[in-house]
Amino acid sequence: MIYARIAGTGSFLPGDPVSNDDLVARGIDTSDQWIVERTGIRMRHLAAPEVTSSDLACEASRRAIEAAGLQPEDIDLLIVATSTPDCIFPSTATLLQSKLGIRNGAAAFDVQAVCTGFVYGLTIAEKFIRSGSHKRALVVGAEVFSRILDWSDRGTCVLFGDGAGAVVLEASDAPGVLSTSLHADGSHHPILCVPGAVAAGQVIGDPFLRMDGQAVFKFAVKVLGEVAHEVLAQAGVEAGQVDWLIPHQANIRIIQATAKRLGVPMDKVITTVDRHGNTSAASIPLALDLAVRDGRIRSGQRIVIEGVGGGFTWGAALLQF
Ligand code: ACO
Repeated sequence: MIYARIAGTGSFLPGDPVSNDDLVARGIDTSDQWIVERTGIRMRHLAAPEVTSSDLACEASRRAIEAAGLQPEDIDLLIVATSTPDCIFPSTATLLQSKLGIRNGAAAFDVQAVCTGFVYGLTIAEKFIRSGSHKRALVVGAEVFSRILDWSDRGTCVLFGDGAGAVVLEASDAPGVLSTSLHADGSHHPILCVPGAVAAGQVIGDPFLRMDGQAVFKFAVKVLGEVAHEVLAQAGVEAGQVDWLIPHQANIRIIQATAKRLGVPMDKVITTVDRHGNTSAASIPLALDLAVRDGRIRSGQRIVIEGVGGGFTWGAALLQF
């Protein structure tokens, strides 16, 4: 039997952290107290105008490939989860492939599932590997959400940040991805979207992120609780046997409510939302890499990752390190 396991992780954050007070100094009508109380966010990283998602993905990927003890040419599948691609086409994954110097004909494509994108990408890669068609996949979440924020809308612009996280998933004799579950319900698309498009050489409609925060909050808590239970039940694992929970990092109150529903104490939850803000598809692999590198995640441990995002999409995976 062929299984898939994570062989290496990497991440990258652009520039210096930007604090809530820095946003106030830039003229946004908000306060550190409001943002911290409502979201838990204290700072985020914002990419310089010339820095793209594929640039961030490239740095994170180099680190993941090095951690796996591999060379870029060893990768035979690249999947980039992003809602902020460098351009309409080609895909950010092919631009990443070029930047990494991978010339072996590896398949490369993007996944668009907003904040659930990394879970979707990992699930797809796992199925490629288990089928025997591919051996070493690079799965990346990379975002420059600062590009699609309306900086005059204080209800959204304080919530997001830029960054990238990556994993190398490789074929293995022993299980590494124990179970996965993906869902979507497109009827909820209006509560979180960037409704604009490009046509006839112009932006048609609204090019900025729009959100009904309270509707998103309720939906996120409900489905994150459900989908984590699903992957545990599939694998026959109890919540008490989970070493770490890594939820999408959107809001500390969503994370706390999700952990409570699952019966996982907060000291088993990896959180980065205070330092990174919401980096959409990058948030889970960023948090995963941080906890691997600081020694909290160790070999043999069980980890639940779970995400929810625009669409609406949601999903989870149970990993054995
Ligand atoms: N600073 C100061 N005041 C603000 C700000 C701000 N940045 N933003 C809004 N306010 C004000 C509003 O104007 C309003 O003022 P009013 O009462 O005088 O009209 C007041 O704060 C309350 O506004 P609400 O929008 O009702 O605030 P709420 O308590 O719902 O919190 C928040 C907003 C933080 C967005 C919350 O709804 C939330 O966290 N939702 C989840 C959304 C989320 O995390 N999305 C991330 C993307 S989705 C994903 O990743 C899955």
